[in-house]
Amino acid sequence: MTQGSNRRFSDRGLDRAALDAEMDEFRRKDRPWNELKNLRAAYDAGDDVTQVVNAAYLAHIGDNVIYSGTSYPSLRRYEEGVVAMVGEMLNAPEGAVGSITTGGTESILMAVKTARDWARATKPRVAVPEMIVPRTAHPAFTKAGELLGLKVVRMSSSPDHRADLEGMTRAINANTIMLVGSAPPYPLAIVDPLPELSSLAQAHELWLHVDGCVGGFVLPFVRELGHKVPDFDFGLPGVSSMSADLHKYGYSGRGASVLMIRNEALAKHQGFTFDAWPGGTYYTANVAGSRNGGAVASSYAVMRYLGRAGYRERVAAMLESKRRIGEGFERIGGIHILGKPEGAHFTVVTDEVDAYAVGDGLGDRGWLFARGKEPRALELQLNARHGAIVDEFLGDLSEVMALAREGKIKSRGTGPVYIS
Ligand SMILES: Cc1ncc(COP(=O)(O)O)c(C=O)c1O
Repeated sequence: MTQGSNRRFSDRGLDRAALDAEMDEFRRKDRPWNELKNLRAAYDAGDDVTQVVNAAYLAHIGDNVIYSGTSYPSLRRYEEGVVAMVGEMLNAPEGAVGSITTGGTESILMAVKTARDWARATKPRVAVPEMIVPRTAHPAFTKAGELLGLKVVRMSSSPDHRADLEGMTRAINANTIMLVGSAPPYPLAIVDPLPELSSLAQAHELWLHVDGCVGGFVLPFVRELGHKVPDFDFGLPGVSSMSADLHKYGYSGRGASVLMIRNEALAKHQGFTFDAWPGGTYYTANVAGSRNGGAVASSYAVMRYLGRAGYRERVAAMLESKRRIGEGFERIGGIHILGKPEGAHFTVVTDEVDAYAVGDGLGDRGWLFARGKEPRALELQLNARHGAIVDEFLGDLSEVMALAREGKIKSRGTGPVYIS
């Protein structure tokens, strides 16, 4: 939130050149989103993909998804196509239902809302519904709990760097309606024990949401490449819903994620209909009203353009970069990837030196990445182009580690923050 800057809404508008100059000045310190030294969430899949995405986005930038049933039938076809492709990718059964939301947070919010209203219909004795989430679950679950009146029981630790299955089992009580697992979570980055969570959900008749926001478009292709990945999708019978973000490793333009729900009987608790106003019947599946058609169109475009093989190739490139980075860490010593993350992002921890000091040293050399708090760590998120900078990164890291060991680089105390 902001109180605004000292610029006022002037009576006369700027001419185009003055406007461009003003905005160029504002952008002077921005970093290009897809610079190769960006090891943060920047999902660059190659220039050809960016062109396909941008062209589809621009072609529909003026189209409002809320009118897809009347003015823009193409948007309806794109959404149906994306939902069918994502459903297939996530092993959703015949009859599964999906929708495109504006992002991971909205998909999670709608999963929690749908679970809550399902519980109202099927578990009427529950007064304050409870949702049990692993330590690593995205803050969007707590946000959803606050907005929707659910008590959120968050575990206090992650044994084996994964969801605390025993703690979650113990936390189940008569008010519990929902369990959450991630495939994988953003921090620690290791897929939760989802087969076990699926059995637990079935045994207690609970809703299980799998947060595949970051891994939904990665893990299916890790598996197709022949690597072992624990079951994580609708192939597990206890999974009620799953989110997978188009605007992350799906490579669409920003503002798109899919929420898939196992069947119509569960999904009927999702949408919102209203007609007691002079405007007529109003229906939306999700939170947003008006939405940009560009996000939906670019999602369809990129999935059709890449096909499964296109995603597989990019995942193969990321796994290769991860392997080279892991080997580089072994050569350098004192730094390693936490556990065995299955996907394209991972947590990096240090042994003798402070991870944040290493982060500051790399930051001074222009590298961008996120940090973790429990444990103090660096979070690296690869994209398909990072193979080109692995050697340079390891070279800088080797120098920085040496300086940190000699006490010549100390942490400036910058912790992990995400503030918008
Ligand atoms: C595992 C996971 N879930 C949910 C989200 C939220 O997604 P969004 O930022 O699109 O709302 C993220 C974002 O990084 C994530 O990593």
